[in-house]
Amino acid sequence: VSVYLVGAGPGSAELLTLRAARLLARADVVVHDRLVEPEVLDMTSPWCERFDVGKRAGHSGTQAAINRLLVDLGRRAACVVRLKGGDPFVFGRGGEEFEALRRAGVDCEVVPGVSSAFAAPLVAGIPVTHRGMSRGVMVVTGHSSDGTEVDFHALAQTGLTLVVLMGVERRAAIAARLIKGGLDPLTPVAAVEHACTPRQRVVRASLAELGAAAVSAPSVLVIGEVAALSLVSLEHRLGELAGSRT
Ligand SMILES: C[S@@+](CC[C@H](N)C(=O)[O-])C[C@H]1O[C@@H](n2cnc3c(N)ncnc32)[C@H](O)[C@@H]1O
Repeated sequence: VSVYLVGAGPGSAELLTLRAARLLARADVVVHDRLVEPEVLDMTSPWCERFDVGKRAGHSGTQAAINRLLVDLGRRAACVVRLKGGDPFVFGRGGEEFEALRRAGVDCEVVPGVSSAFAAPLVAGIPVTHRGMSRGVMVVTGHSSDGTEVDFHALAQTGLTLVVLMGVERRAAIAARLIKGGLDPLTPVAAVEHACTPRQRVVRASLAELGAAAVSAPSVLVIGEVAALSLVSLEHRLGELAGSRT
């Protein structure tokens, strides 16, 4: 194997898998996104080459360009770590990168990571399937760049906890669709910003208030009865973990 598609977890290096930490320590090259915390990148060796393909870095940013870079690196370096925030196969376009590498004949291993979809509610003290309150959870994107979007109207009928990634920008429209679909406007919502990092912040609101609430990306939106819960001791402990630098 020469390319490892690795989940960096939601933020703190403490939440990396052992496999991820070991691969980072021996990587010749790391190709990472904007959401990967500096303390995670610091787990590489001093001679490891780093490529930031996050949008803010001025990289062309197209998926095709990233795929080409990975194929090229995979052919010439012994250990290439493609580091993606959270879990590489949850909304990270990791599947596309895996397919591109396979098509080019470059060996690739995928290493799961802790997804923000579950870690962010947890650090806010929200058990997404709390017994007696929620019998399941749906993880969806709030983004609709390709013109298609999740059927929020239908989701409103399920009674399940809703976890929305990439939903900050369209939060007003999402809330309106859910209410139109039958969800109570007083349904609790929690927005967890920068979960598991020192910048972690939790904003609580009702569904009707979500559109006007001050929330910025990256955030995970948790919508449903469980979003009113705040198991504070847990939030406190994990808040400390998020801020740890050791
Ligand atoms: C392209 S998706 C990638 C998701 C990632 N693969 C995962 O499993 O967490 C990016 C979105 O994930 C969410 N996200 C990722 N890391 C986060 C964090 N530390 N705090 C809050 N939201 C986060 C945000 O909704 C953000 O817009």
